[in-house]
Amino acid sequence: MKRGYAAHTQKQENRSSGTAPAAQKKGITSSEVQKFQEMIYCYYREHGRNLPWRMTQNPYHILISEIMLQQTQVQRVIGKYERFIKIFPDFSSLARTPLRTVLSEWQGLGYNRRAIALKKISQRVTEEFHGNLPSAVETLITFPGIGKATASAISAFAFHIPTVFIETNIRRVFIHSFFRDKTNITDAEILPLVEKTLDTSNPRQWYYALMDYGVMLKQKYENFNKRSAHYQKQSPFQGSNRQVRGMILKALAGASSVSEPEMAQKFQISKEKLTSNLIQLEKEGFIKKKRKKFTLA
Ligand code: ADE
Repeated sequence: MKRGYAAHTQKQENRSSGTAPAAQKKGITSSEVQKFQEMIYCYYREHGRNLPWRMTQNPYHILISEIMLQQTQVQRVIGKYERFIKIFPDFSSLARTPLRTVLSEWQGLGYNRRAIALKKISQRVTEEFHGNLPSAVETLITFPGIGKATASAISAFAFHIPTVFIETNIRRVFIHSFFRDKTNITDAEILPLVEKTLDTSNPRQWYYALMDYGVMLKQKYENFNKRSAHYQKQSPFQGSNRQVRGMILKALAGASSVSEPEMAQKFQISKEKLTSNLIQLEKEGFIKKKRKKFTLA
C-alpha cells in the first residue's frame, strides 16, 4: 500500500512524543505504546485498504461515507458511495434534491433514515454554515444521524483532529491486544487505551490502520467483540420492522401514492405488521396519509 506508507513514514518520526507522558501516567509505558503502534502500522503498510473515501479530504465526501458505513458493509458501500457523490456532488445539491430522489439512490443500503438525515444535514450546513461542514465534535453531534463515534470519525478523517473514539473494528483490536483473559469489557475501559496509543501526529491514518487490523482479526480469529459488554447479536433482517420500513419507503419512493391494501398485496406480510409500521413512519414524519393513500413526507 504505497501511498499510505509514504505518508505514514514521514509522520511517524515524531509520533511518540505526543503520546508518551499520558501513557506513562495511566499505566502503559511509552515503549509499549510504540510497540503497539509499530505492529499496527506494520500490518497497514502491507495490507492497508485503499478505500475511495480514504483518498479524499473533502468533508462532504467523508460525511457521506461515514453515514453509509454506519450500518452497511464496506464492499456494499463502495459502489453506492461513488455513485451518490457523482449524482449529489456537494451539500447544496443534496439539500435541494427532493427526498424521493435521494431515497431512490439510497436503495440497497437499508436504514433509510440515514438518507433522510443526510438531506437534513445538507440543508443545515447550506443555510447555517455557508456550505462548510463544522469540524468540532460538539457541533457535529447536534446534526441528525451523527452520534459521538461518527462525529469523532469525521473530525479525525476530514479535519485531522486527534479525537478519541471506538467503533466495532477498533474495539476488536483493543480487546485482542490488551484484554486477553477478560470478558464483559466496557468501552469505558478501552477508551483510555485508545487515547494513550493514538498517533496524534496523524490520527486519520492511525484510525484507518486500526480498523484494517480489526478486520483482519475478525477474519482470522473468533469474534473478540463477544467479550465486549456492548456486544449485540444482530436480529435477523427477514420479517423485521426494519425490513418492512425499508419496503414501505422504497414503494413510496417509486410511486406518487400507495394505499395500504396495495402495499399488503405487494409485500405479503401480516396486516398488523404493515399497519404498525405505517403508523410509526407517519409519527416519525417520514410519510403522510391523505385520502387513504400514503406518500413520502
Ligand atoms: N475508513 C474510513 N472510515 C471507515 C469506516 N467507518 N470503516 C472502514 N473503513 C473506513
